[in-house]
Amino acid sequence: MRVVSGIQPTGNLHLGNYLGAIRNWVRMQDEMEEGSECLFFLADLHAISMPHNPAELRKATLEMAAALVACGIDPDRSVLFNQAQVPAHAELQWLLNGTARMGWLNRMTQWKDKAGKNREGQSVALFAYPVLQAADVLLYQATHVPVGDDQKQHLELARDIAQKFNNDFASDDDPVFTLPDPFIPPQAARIMSLRDGSAKMSKSDPSDMSRINLVDDADTIMKKVKKAKTDPEPLPSEEAGLEGRPEALNLVTIFAALTDSTVEDVLRDFGGEGFGKFKSALGEVLAEKLSPISARFNELLKDREAIDAVLAKGAAKARERGLPTLKRTYEALGLLRH
Ligand code: TYM
Repeated sequence: MRVVSGIQPTGNLHLGNYLGAIRNWVRMQDEMEEGSECLFFLADLHAISMPHNPAELRKATLEMAAALVACGIDPDRSVLFNQAQVPAHAELQWLLNGTARMGWLNRMTQWKDKAGKNREGQSVALFAYPVLQAADVLLYQATHVPVGDDQKQHLELARDIAQKFNNDFASDDDPVFTLPDPFIPPQAARIMSLRDGSAKMSKSDPSDMSRINLVDDADTIMKKVKKAKTDPEPLPSEEAGLEGRPEALNLVTIFAALTDSTVEDVLRDFGGEGFGKFKSALGEVLAEKLSPISARFNELLKDREAIDAVLAKGAAKARERGLPTLKRTYEALGLLRH
């Protein structure tokens, strides 16, 4: 098994990232068997596809690395690094640009959402973003990619690129790339905004009240949960009763995911109750689960050089892991002698 996944170092790590992806990274790391390996990275090369401030990006990369360690990523067991220190990601992207089709990229919902009506004004990097994401996983022959639901389409594209490249440039019995499988959690794959049950929780939402950040303190968490949008009905006793009530479903899903239970379990306990009591309980569970993470995060940030050293060491390992595939790709394309 080769597990590979990434996160953009823009803004804070929020509950959606944690429940949809990072918690599974940690679980997969903890269950790794001999001969298998996990690689986790900060997607700082992806972050330049949107307008950004260089000093802030540098700071956010370091802080996101600390946040991942605080969540349980162990740099001695997993390879933890930032893309920019591993030039093979950008190199492989260029090589795959010859295989990726404009039509495939044009269909990406993230591109459509982010570009909106102003496609002409977007950076080329925003359009080609999914090809870099394909390079991120194909470089390491990833077998499993733990992500939230919103990244599924990008991973399907990575599979399409790998398949076309293998068809065009390799023999059936000796493909260059492994087709990666997305690993999407059955529960909490899509945590929604606290202000709007139809929008995903996101670091780009201008309202901080829309998300729980992993570094929010107990008071802030309780305030955000209490202010979360709901409806006037009490909670139902069965899941079917949550249909058409996206905000209620989201809060119950969060509660279930945090307590390792199911939506049915939560409704068994809270069915018939109003949101007042449920929100208090949810705020408490959130504060209890997140406070050790934020304490560890603040501790780690006291030694920024140590985090830099972790990233440098991880990048050296990643460069080594990526080398054979990069070389084979050059060879397959006729750019390097066999
Ligand atoms: P990013 O930085 O937006 O998010 C990181 C991870 O968090 C998940 N996620 C969510 N899950 C559930 N509910 C939500 N509201 C929510 N918001 C975010 C995402 O699905 C993701 O798993 N393009 C990627 C980063 C990336 C990557 C890769 C991922 C770059 N290269 C290669 C996997 C493999 C992104 O912007 O994720």
